[in-house]
Amino acid sequence: MVTDSMRRLTVSFREHFGTYDYALAVRSPGRVNLIGEHTDYNEGFVLPAAVDKAAHFIVAPRLDGACRFYAADLDDHFSCEVHSIVKTEKGWPNYLLGILSELQHDGHAIPGCDVVFGGDVPIGAGMSSSAAVECGFAFALNELFGLGLSKLELARLGQRAENRFVGVQCGIMDQFVNIFGEDRKVLKIDCRSLEFEYIPFERTDLNIVLCETESKRSLASSEYNVRRQQCEAGVGILRMHEPKAQSLRDVSEECLAAHRTEMAEVIHRRCFYVVRENARVLSACQDLERNDFRSFGTKMYQSHAGLRDDYQVSSPDLDFLVDAASSIEGVLGARMMGAGFGGCTINLVEQRHVAAFTEEMRERYRRRTGKPNNVYVTRIESGTALVSLS
Ligand code: GLA
Repeated sequence: MVTDSMRRLTVSFREHFGTYDYALAVRSPGRVNLIGEHTDYNEGFVLPAAVDKAAHFIVAPRLDGACRFYAADLDDHFSCEVHSIVKTEKGWPNYLLGILSELQHDGHAIPGCDVVFGGDVPIGAGMSSSAAVECGFAFALNELFGLGLSKLELARLGQRAENRFVGVQCGIMDQFVNIFGEDRKVLKIDCRSLEFEYIPFERTDLNIVLCETESKRSLASSEYNVRRQQCEAGVGILRMHEPKAQSLRDVSEECLAAHRTEMAEVIHRRCFYVVRENARVLSACQDLERNDFRSFGTKMYQSHAGLRDDYQVSSPDLDFLVDAASSIEGVLGARMMGAGFGGCTINLVEQRHVAAFTEEMRERYRRRTGKPNNVYVTRIESGTALVSLS
């Protein structure tokens, strides 16, 4: 089925690049993460799902070495030569350039392409619009030029583009779920072995609802990298006693407590949060399997408290939204989602209360900040895939 978004993009493609006879189209979703925040780069566990907000791409081959991009939502262009790719101040093209650069690094020769993309993954909302762009483009090039990359290679390619080209030392969660997501299933990912399991999420009486802070995440990438270094510093200290500890994944609460005085307070706090969050994800998965969403929701609140107090990646607006949600009928759990410092909260809400929840949250947020509070009721859908253009 051709969606409205795709129809709009085909019109744009024709306007900007002429015919799209040799083009293909891809849908690449945003994601939610039910629990397990900042655990992926610590080789821990996460529980994300791909959702119904997505980036769409139309990509056609060129043979003259030119790459021409058009970001439909921004009404902005960018062009470059495939053999001279450099990071640009413009921002958005870097997610595409990063993919081209990493493909070249791996020895894949891309002869050029025309790209139009756009979609409805809110930017900067913590739903990983960046992974949607990286992986959607990587997927399209893989299909278009028959590169033969596996799903796992595509996810890793997306992550490398973000790490090495964009410059955020993100983990694998966003790109992984973007590629491997399935309809009505959450993914429990072991971010060390990359083994994963689909857990059905089929409760029609419960909704995953996102509340957006609408605040700029200016600290997100710099502080993100700092958190990562702090975790590594903690592991470095613990490894002197526990040589087998490769990451915080290998550290127990007891071990951390035993060596608390050897590390700066701030390093201890970061490690403490991660060790606990990992344990929380595992027991939250058992809640899911038992269909115990009350217990699951309680862990979401605990996760938020850890992110706020120990990992310190929340913001006053996020805290306000979580507090507000906790006092509204039908809410089982709420927490900030994604890297933090803005973005959105994820709320588990009984479906019959969703309309009242939405109204109440909008009103309370507007009264507090004067800003609108976009509220999205999400549906879990499948990962990146080709879509028909006809
Ligand atoms: C961002 C990163 C992910 C993950 C989350 C925090 O979304 O891209 O790898 O670390 O933050 O859980």
